[in-house]
Amino acid sequence: MEQPTPESTPPEATPWYRDSDDAPLGERLQKVLAAHGWGSRRVCEEMIAQGRVRVNDATAVLGCRVRPDNDRVEVDGVPVGIRPGLVHYLVNKPQGVICSVGDTHDRPTIVDLVPPEPRVHPVGRLDLATEGLIIVTNDGALTHAITHPSRGVEKEYLASVRRGAVSAGSLRRLRDGIELDDGFTAPAQVSQPEPGLLRITIHEGRNRQVRRMCDAIGHPVERLIRVRIGPISDRSLAPGTWRYLDPGEVIALSTETGAAGYAPHT
Ligand code: URA
Repeated sequence: MEQPTPESTPPEATPWYRDSDDAPLGERLQKVLAAHGWGSRRVCEEMIAQGRVRVNDATAVLGCRVRPDNDRVEVDGVPVGIRPGLVHYLVNKPQGVICSVGDTHDRPTIVDLVPPEPRVHPVGRLDLATEGLIIVTNDGALTHAITHPSRGVEKEYLASVRRGAVSAGSLRRLRDGIELDDGFTAPAQVSQPEPGLLRITIHEGRNRQVRRMCDAIGHPVERLIRVRIGPISDRSLAPGTWRYLDPGEVIALSTETGAAGYAPHT
């Protein structure tokens, strides 16, 4: 049988997942992981070296490239489950920052608080004077799912109100649903941890809703802070700062809102 000559021997194929100068397929695994909040590239390289990262059910090696559209990536068994190029920031908005992507009056906007690239937008709005948690992302599907009225993601606020303690009757009105100029509010969870401080959980997203609810019972809001969005809360995130949502949080949020495309791969 004819033996292959050295010239006819095909060069050893470089598997698509191995790094090399001529392997344009996919992105470096550590870059993908770092972009989605698993730590710096160095930390992600260590996770890969420690065998904690799997790609399509095989333990990943350093130099691995992935095509996040097609490949299933897991860290410690947790699916990364986030499409490429998507970022999800959790921002603690201070007072005086506007929730839009630009402002004609040059006021600081929420997107000024996060990295300039990629371009992102806030998920919903907080009033200029409202503080607290807001998600900023370039993920249109998740934005749609969170803001769609039918999804009813819970949002929890702390409101300190004027005129002292709120009566039991007024608390009941807030809980049962109160008439505003755009109709009755849906039932809400309302407690008063201390006189004049209300913890209010709503799942509608009407304009200035909490302020208007408190106005309606004669206790205008003095200070309003959002402390939770669905499963997401963070008491240690300083005002004016951001962090990545970790993949588990994105998946929890997606599960709660029914957003497609994030469920762990099966
Ligand atoms: N309700 C309000 O009144 N203001 C906000 O910013 C958010 C909810």
